[in-house]
Amino acid sequence: HVVVIAIDGPSGSGKSSVSKAVAARLGLAYLDTGAMYRAATLWCVGRGTDLADEAAVAHAVRVMPLVSGLDPDAPTVHLDGRDVSEAIRTTEVSTAVSQVATNLEVRAELRRRQRRTIEAEAAADGFSGGRGIVAEGRDITTVVAPDADVRVLLTASEEARLRRRSLEVHGAADESAVEATRDQVLRRDRDDATVSQFEVAADGVVTVDSSDLDFDQTVDAVLAVVTQ
Ligand code: CDP
Repeated sequence: HVVVIAIDGPSGSGKSSVSKAVAARLGLAYLDTGAMYRAATLWCVGRGTDLADEAAVAHAVRVMPLVSGLDPDAPTVHLDGRDVSEAIRTTEVSTAVSQVATNLEVRAELRRRQRRTIEAEAAADGFSGGRGIVAEGRDITTVVAPDADVRVLLTASEEARLRRRSLEVHGAADESAVEATRDQVLRRDRDDATVSQFEVAADGVVTVDSSDLDFDQTVDAVLAVVTQ
């Protein structure tokens, strides 16, 4: 009986869309932890907090009124009652998010909230009626939920990741669109290097390489890990 599924992966691995589909298929709740780091960034920027001031950022995040919607068919993020699901996806937030995510006090606070959500969904009467949750991010299999029933590292070649990201951001994957995406993706990979390493899977984590799989095949590959 699977209750908690943890999925980690880098940008462009297909992690978010695949995790959502797996949760929907299994009738589980869905938690996008990257959206929480994005919301924290938007919250600090909106308050005029200097992102280089670690103590000020940590304080702002501790008092952040964030609500993560857990419906895989319509995941939302609300900050102080305002729906910011789209506002957290801007280039401005994508460019600044690593600076907030590498703040150790921010990570401690958000990990605490993530664990609370996961425990509540695994236990009782939350969104999924207590059937369980798919939580995805960069440190879920290793730090947030190392005891998850199923742990998957979703990887993809750099070429495949850039192509997917380019389609998401520019709606195209021709050479110039991919080039425009390259700097952003590779820079964020570098900026995130202290929070996540994807070269080798941690002990007990199953790697699914999506480089040569389409979306449905990737979902099926993850579901196969769940039922194995
Ligand atoms: O846009 P992309 O899907 O690559 O990333 P995301 O899942 O929206 O996460 C945005 C950022 O949040 C990452 O680049 C990391 O800096 C941070 N993050 C993290 O530090 N730990 C997590 N568990 C999830 C995201």
